[in-house]
Amino acid sequence: MKLSDIYDVNIILATDAKFGISLSGVIPWNISEDMQYFRVTTSTHGEDKQNILLMGRKTWEYMGRKSVLNGGRRILVITTHPERLPEGVLGARTVEEVGSILASLKDIHRVWVCGGRDIYNLFLSRGDYRMIYWNKIDADFGCDNRVFLMETAFICESSEFVVDKKTGKMVELLYYKTPVE
Ligand SMILES: NC(=O)c1ccc[n+]([C@@H]2O[C@H](COP(=O)([O-])OP(=O)(O)OC[C@H]3O[C@@H](n4cnc5c(N)ncnc54)[C@H](OP(=O)(O)O)[C@@H]3O)[C@@H](O)[C@H]2O)c1
Repeated sequence: MKLSDIYDVNIILATDAKFGISLSGVIPWNISEDMQYFRVTTSTHGEDKQNILLMGRKTWEYMGRKSVLNGGRRILVITTHPERLPEGVLGARTVEEVGSILASLKDIHRVWVCGGRDIYNLFLSRGDYRMIYWNKIDADFGCDNRVFLMETAFICESSEFVVDKKTGKMVELLYYKTPVE
């Protein structure tokens, strides 16, 4: 059973031009427009419902081990050690456990698969999503952690030139989306 048969499960990611998502455990760019897009897209916008941000343990640590986010968002971490998570952060060892936790929660609006690589690959290989929201930063950041996507399956909805605060360079940010075939 796919979670996306029951819930509005979507994948959201930002990559560089070579599908890189991080370098040495860190995202090697700092683009306000991309962060704002993530925050706005994954929030519930005042509806009386919650969104679940599903992520691997390293991504959760990278985010600063936040247990509470604004915008009606709740974190569910996939880890082999959910007992190590602090109170308020949900944890699951498997997709089946994710399903059990979601079933125990009320008023779920959307589930956002937020990475990293193994979690993206898990949901991509299961075909367990309704849409992919992919922001492509059209430059090579030399990433050592990549997720491969079939670029031709995506529709580019818009693009803009933005400044990467880490390098000070201007880069093109392209907003792609795809439905499941
Ligand atoms: N560009 C983007 O859009 C984007 C998105 C997300 C993350 N990132 C970046 O990517 C980096 C981290 O990503 P990552 O790929 O290295 O790691 P990750 O997927 O976030 O976390 C890996 C950890 O997740 C747990 N895990 C993964 N698959 C599992 C499974 N099948 N069953 C049980 N547990 C599982 C394990 O945790 P335990 O070791 O606790 O068992 C594993 O060590 C960070 O720099 C982050 O900021 C970038």
